[in-house]
Amino acid sequence: MVHETERLLVRRKDTESEGVVSLLLEHPQGRSLASWAPGAHIDVVLPSGKVRQYSLCGDPEDTTAYRIAVLDEADGRGGSREIHDVIREGDPLSIQGPRNHFALDAASHYVLIAGGIGITPILAMARQLATEGASWRLYYGGRSKPTMAFLDELSQLGGAVTIVPQDECGHIDLEVAMTDVPTGAAVYCCGPESLITAVRDTCVRLIGSEAMHFERFAASSAVDAAPVGDTGVDHPSEFEVELRQTGCTLTVPADRSLLEVVLEANPDILYSCEDGFCGSCETRVLDGVPEHQDSILSAAEKEKGETMLICVGRSRTERLVLDA
Ligand code: FES
Repeated sequence: MVHETERLLVRRKDTESEGVVSLLLEHPQGRSLASWAPGAHIDVVLPSGKVRQYSLCGDPEDTTAYRIAVLDEADGRGGSREIHDVIREGDPLSIQGPRNHFALDAASHYVLIAGGIGITPILAMARQLATEGASWRLYYGGRSKPTMAFLDELSQLGGAVTIVPQDECGHIDLEVAMTDVPTGAAVYCCGPESLITAVRDTCVRLIGSEAMHFERFAASSAVDAAPVGDTGVDHPSEFEVELRQTGCTLTVPADRSLLEVVLEANPDILYSCEDGFCGSCETRVLDGVPEHQDSILSAAEKEKGETMLICVGRSRTERLVLDA
């Protein structure tokens, strides 16, 4: 696997807005935590065994703690409810990561757009850009101000932040947000699928598709999940996988996922969405050519083939060797 599991403690649990709590996680012996950059997230292993991904929204300079924020989703899969109802200050929580598939690239100007709890990675980005004196604007939409987390922290970042509570102002004006931006600008968006789609459409029209960067909370269209680099070459539907760490070789039949087969030999492998969008099951590829089906890795990362998401990925070669 790409990351080791680490056991941390909940130092603080705070209410950030209606329906949103934050957790501050620290090492039990006060050791420094692995460094991270805005856009990074961690996998949290809940007491029930569920694994969920949360963006880091604290200060990357503070190596004593990670902060995450969690929306209580009544219609969710139970992870957020568990954090709200069960997790207390002083409880242990296992994590993996941080990992970052949403990092800030160099740009002449940044348009940051957040919807609801999507503010978590965007908040860390805004803080960094403000500190660096970069050119940036942030548009943050939510149902109403009482439901929008971190408004106080954002108010300290100055006039580059536009708060758009839907009950007062309607939706974020994406035309305004992306009109007259300098050449070389980048757009970073995190929020619900409807917002990402609208931002992407506007970005493609006004700036260009290469400017768009986004992080979603759920699996999306088949277009995003399509394999990259498919040349039409016939590749085996059944293949062998060697798990180098576990020390065994298994056959993955055409009707079973690679993750299912791997779990039989190594039940400790982390996974969550089983749909190629959360990143939990990212695994290093030591040999062979993976066939990617996820919406996490960039085109360049898929081309390199150094890691793969084994819940949806398969093999383009007869044999695959994984660091698992
Ligand atoms: S389990 Fe979520 S990407 Fe594989």
